[in-house]
Formats: sequence, structure tokens, C-alpha cells
Amino acid sequence: MGVSPENEPLVQQLIKLLVELLRYDEAEQVTRESLQRHPGSVSLQLTLADVYFRQGKDSHALAIVETLGMGKDADPRAMVMHARLLQRTGDIRGAVSTYREAVEHDEDVADVDLASLLGIADFGAEELSEAADFHDAVAEFADRLDDEEDESPSVLSERPEQGFDSVGGMEGVKDEIRVKIIYPLQHADMYAAYGKKVGGGILLYGPPGCGKTHLARATAGEVKSTFISVGISDVLSMWMGSSEKNLNAVFQKARGSKPCVLFFDEVDALGASRADMKRTAGRHLINQFLSELDGVDADNEGVLCLAATNTPWHLDTAFRRPGRFDRVIFVPPPDGQARQEILDLQLNGKPTDNVDTRKIASKTADYSGADLKAVVDRAVEVKLHEAVKIGMPKPIGTKDLLKAAKQVRPTTREWFSAARNHALYANEGGLYDEILDYLKIKR
Ligand SMILES: Nc1ncnc2c1ncn2[C@@H]1O[C@H](COP(=O)(O)OP(=O)(O)OP(=O)(O)O)[C@@H](O)[C@H]1O
Ligand SMILES: [Mg+2]
Repeated sequence: MGVSPENEPLVQQLIKLLVELLRYDEAEQVTRESLQRHPGSVSLQLTLADVYFRQGKDSHALAIVETLGMGKDADPRAMVMHARLLQRTGDIRGAVSTYREAVEHDEDVADVDLASLLGIADFGAEELSEAADFHDAVAEFADRLDDEEDESPSVLSERPEQGFDSVGGMEGVKDEIRVKIIYPLQHADMYAAYGKKVGGGILLYGPPGCGKTHLARATAGEVKSTFISVGISDVLSMWMGSSEKNLNAVFQKARGSKPCVLFFDEVDALGASRADMKRTAGRHLINQFLSELDGVDADNEGVLCLAATNTPWHLDTAFRRPGRFDRVIFVPPPDGQARQEILDLQLNGKPTDNVDTRKIASKTADYSGADLKAVVDRAVEVKLHEAVKIGMPKPIGTKDLLKAAKQVRPTTREWFSAARNHALYANEGGLYDEILDYLKIKR
């Protein structure tokens, strides 16, 4: 990256830009690197939490804001972020009280969108109405821009180049995706001949960092189609107030770019709260989402729907009806073989010296794909430092990676402690049997 790491404001600018471009992985990387140089920086920590939030890495975000948002020096911005995370996991009560506390500390942190999501838009009426006026003005301005340019400017689409080859392991999941959505697309005539209706989507769930988002993008690469990724929190908040119109714009865009993989990341934010959502706007949005999925008003053929979440138990069951996200697939942490493949993929193109990835894989049980990526990143960083110091590049070896692995904690265990309870006590129709099997719990 061409930005001098010492120039903090410039780094912040860069992060902001990357976030705007939805390049969250890079934003995360730059923020983390910057944090290593300024470990105490609250604003960088908040930025990182925000980036995690946008990526749907809720547990990562939570870890940061819980620390910053507690005690007598609690940072109100961290508390608002905390409230947002609670909202997303469906803990509306917790979200409301955390949000109120934050605004009592500092009214400047009030967030109308969040407040309205929480059904407390009347809270602190004066400030909120001011803020609302401002938002209206911004929305109006955006509308005018829309008229001048084309329709919704914010639905970004891309054409990923890498297919399933870029995804380590996950053979079972790849097969499910082939059968359920790739073959019907490639052999539409045959399916029609047998009178088989094509449709319905796949919901991927599992611990953070295990490749759900990566796999969704690779699915588009595999069928050489367009890829549109939408974070539901984006639909809810980015376009202030006109969410329904925007949701429709997303689907329209997808239908206009067939074949297309339409990917909803972190779907829980939308699905979580149908019962909790006090405001009718929220319920409308969910109902509209469902009817767009059903393709009632339009033809969804050629639009492949995928979604991903860490918390499927918060998702309204209406989403899982036939023709909607009727396949629910568990994406487990990579096994030994998959870890080796991921390490090989991550090391590909980097200067290495006879790395024994199998050995490293055997020592990294419970590491997610993202954790393994962090291990490689760390080893690369150390080597780079050495190279700069001695003025000569040196390849990465097995030892470097093993050392790096010791410094990176696996992040998947935490998720299982929550998942286990849902699988044990709320396993309707065997929905979470895969979790029980993974944990080797008899059923
Ligand atoms: N199976 C895999 N093969 C190759 N790379 C992987 C794999 N799993 C994870 N990764 C790497 O880890 C990173 C994080 O994975 P990804 O964002 O897809 O996880 P996720 O399951 O969507 O996590 P979250 O639930 O936090 O959104 C990816 O960018 C990719 O580089
Ligand atoms: Mg993801």
C-alpha cells in the first residue's frame, strides 16, 4: 500500500475509502497494522470494530466494544456500537438499554437509524428530530443526485475471477451448491424437461472466519456470473429511510445482471427482529424481502440466492420455507486436510522454503480460515522486518509459521459454546444436527 504508515490522518482516510469501496478485508488489514503501531488508539479500535461489524464478524467487534464500553471511562461511541451488535443478535432489550445509556453520556452519539430499528425513535425527541432533519436533507440530496445519475448508485456488482479452486476443503458444501444452484443454472433445459422447478437459496451458517463469504464469492467465480453482495445492515441503514425502495433496487439489479449470485451477508440483522420490530417499517421490509425472494412480482430465474449468518437461530423461520432459503448448510471449521489446503493457498506466490504445511495444519486444530490467514500474515510480516533489517529477502519456512501460529489464538471455540445450546435445546426438525455431529454429541 502506497501510504506511509506514519501518516496517521492519511491512514484514516485510506481506511475510510476502503470501507466506502466495501473492501473490508483490506480495511481490516490496514486498521490492524495501524493499531500495532498505535495500540492505545481508541479511534482506531473503534474503526476496527466498525469494520468487523460491516464484515459480520460480530464476535470480533464485540470483543473490542465490550472493553471500550465498560467501566467509568466507558466510551459512548463504543456503547452505541455495542447496542448495534446486540440489536443484530436479537437482544433488543439489551440494545435499548445500552443505547440509552450511551446517549445519556453524550447526546452527540445519538443514531436515528439505530433508534428507529430499536423502536425508540421518540427518545430524546429534540436532538433526534434535529438529526432526522439532517438525515432527510441528506436523503433528499442523494435523491437529487440519483435523478442526475442513474438509479441506486450503491448496489455494487463484481465479476469474481476465482472459482472453487480458491476455496480449501469444504467439499461437501461445494457439492451442495453445485447440485442446488449451479447445475440447474447450467442445465436449465433439462430441469425444465423433467418439470423440475428451479429456485430457492442456500443459507450458510457457522463460526466466523470459516469461509462463508469467501465461498459465496467463489460460487460466482465458478459459474462466471456477476456477484452482488449486500450486507443487510447496509440495506437498513446506508440509504436512510428508503430501505424498501433500495431492497427492490438490489433485486432489480440482480435480475438485470443474470446470471447472478445475489449474496446476503449477515442475514440475521434483518431476520432477527420480525417479532421484536416495533416499527411497522421494519416488518414491511422483511415482508418485502420475502416477497422479492419468492419472485412474486418478478422473475428470479438466473438469480442464485445465497446468504450467510453466524446466528441462524435468530433468523425468522419464514425465511426457510420452500423456495426461499430452503437449504441450510453448516460450514464447519476446516479439518486438517482443509487447513493444509488453505495454508497452501495463502502461501501461494509468496517466497517460501519447503514449507511443511501438513505439519502446521496438524498443529492448528480449531483455527478458522481467517485465523490461518492471520498466521501467514504474521509470518510474512516478521520475515519482512528481518529482510529490511539485513537488506536481503529470506523465504518463509515451517518454523516461522509454527512460531506465528503460537501467537494467533483460534477463534472458533467461542462460537460453539453458543451453538451447542441451540443445537441441544432448539433443534427443530434436526436443523442443527450437523453441529451435534461435529461436536460428537449423540442424537
Ligand atoms: N476454506 C477456505 N479457503 C481459502 N481461504 C479461506 C477459507 N476459509 C477462510 N478463508 C480465508 O479467511 C478469510 C475469512 O473468511 P470469510 O470472510 O469467508 O469467513 P466467514 O465465514 O464469512 O466469516 P464471518 O462469519 O465472520 O463473516 C477469507 O478472506 C479467506 O482469505
Ligand atoms: Mg462473512
